[in-house]
Amino acid sequence: MFEPVRIAPSLLSADFMQLGRDVALIEEAGAGFVHVDVMDGHFVPNLTMGVPVVKQLKRATSLPLDVHLMISNPLEQLPWFLDAGADLVTVHAEALDAEGLARAVAAIHAAGALAAVACKPHTPTGALAPVIADLDMVLVMSVEPGFSGQSYIEGTEDKVARVVEMARAVGAAPLVQVDGGISLSTAARVAAAGADVLVCGNAVYAADDPARALADIAAVADEARLAALAAHKEVSPACLLS
Ligand code: DX5
Ligand code: ZN
Repeated sequence: MFEPVRIAPSLLSADFMQLGRDVALIEEAGAGFVHVDVMDGHFVPNLTMGVPVVKQLKRATSLPLDVHLMISNPLEQLPWFLDAGADLVTVHAEALDAEGLARAVAAIHAAGALAAVACKPHTPTGALAPVIADLDMVLVMSVEPGFSGQSYIEGTEDKVARVVEMARAVGAAPLVQVDGGISLSTAARVAAAGADVLVCGNAVYAADDPARALADIAAVADEARLAALAAHKEVSPACLLS
């Protein structure tokens, strides 16, 4: 059965004075998650939003909150975000050692949320190895974390394919999310490589018609995914949809 690619618009590109409107807009447009970029000015140079915003988002939307923690001390702050209502929490592989990653994943699961680990563009996929079998999602960064509106780093799709393979080798099938520079022109490549969730900041919120942009990106991603699956299984796309 064919699973459509999910779009996770990043609020970092929304209008902070109109956050309620901008969340409602993506909910109506069929987003799969709300992507919340939390930055501490230390792990990354930028500072963005934190726990109070997550708490208010929880009341404002029924979409799952996908909280991307770009912070140096995730083990200390995780409980705050879990209490605030995060449904899926991503910690960075560069912020913790193997034991710390395992503790973070266990704490997220103990709170009933989904756990993900992110790796920056230059971080080898081997950093995921100690926890990949326990993850609900892997986040492959396709830009250096810190800012929206950057260009997609060419070749990230190969890393996506390696992560899918690595998970399969240990009998796991976490969702694979790609974050950074995803647009109409890059979505197909990552979807064909195996991405399940696409974060889109500027490509959605800076568009003249954000709902239309979201639908168009989802459509090209689904088409690429379907074609890749069909090529792999050597069946026609129509069979996969039935
Ligand atoms: C970057 C953030 C991204 C970013 C995506 O550090 O993690 O989520 O906001 O924005 P675009 O899609 O504009 O690259
Ligand atoms: Zn992000």
